[in-house]
Amino acid sequence: EKEKTLAIIKPDGLYGNYTENIKKAILDSGFTILKEMTIQLDDDAAMGFYAEHSSKGFFSSLVKYMTSGPVLIMVLEKENAVADWRTLIGPTDASTAKITHPHSIRAMCGMTLEKNCVHGSDSFQSAEREIAFFFDEKSSDRVVIGH
Ligand code: CMP
Repeated sequence: EKEKTLAIIKPDGLYGNYTENIKKAILDSGFTILKEMTIQLDDDAAMGFYAEHSSKGFFSSLVKYMTSGPVLIMVLEKENAVADWRTLIGPTDASTAKITHPHSIRAMCGMTLEKNCVHGSDSFQSAEREIAFFFDEKSSDRVVIGH
């Protein structure tokens, strides 16, 4: 059964020109990129997307980071997409990833716990909510790359 997940290349990932390498890793791992768009998040969008973290001490810093430049948002599809994309990106803390998961995407392009260059939905329920946050089900903003 195919499953969808939401991937985001964060501002540091775009700014560091990691997009090509990240997309290659995505396609080499058997995902289909169903939709993609590059957008500049404003404060409201970043705060809405990360609402579950609004009480955390790092929230304002996270919003500042996520609005510091454009992001590339993608809907990925394959069997077991949510878990497999989380595995491919590696641990949240990119400095840990460089040691424990050196072949992960965060080891390649991330820097720290906050500046970890990519996002992945943490569950099937999160994926449904996050995809609906950015993409209109009926819209034709549709590209299909790979598989
Ligand atoms: P992400 O997987 O997109 O989910 C929430 C983001 O908040 C996370 O990646 C990091 O960018 C950031 N984050 C998570 N935990 C912390 C933390 N303890 N300190 C600073 N930033 C964090």
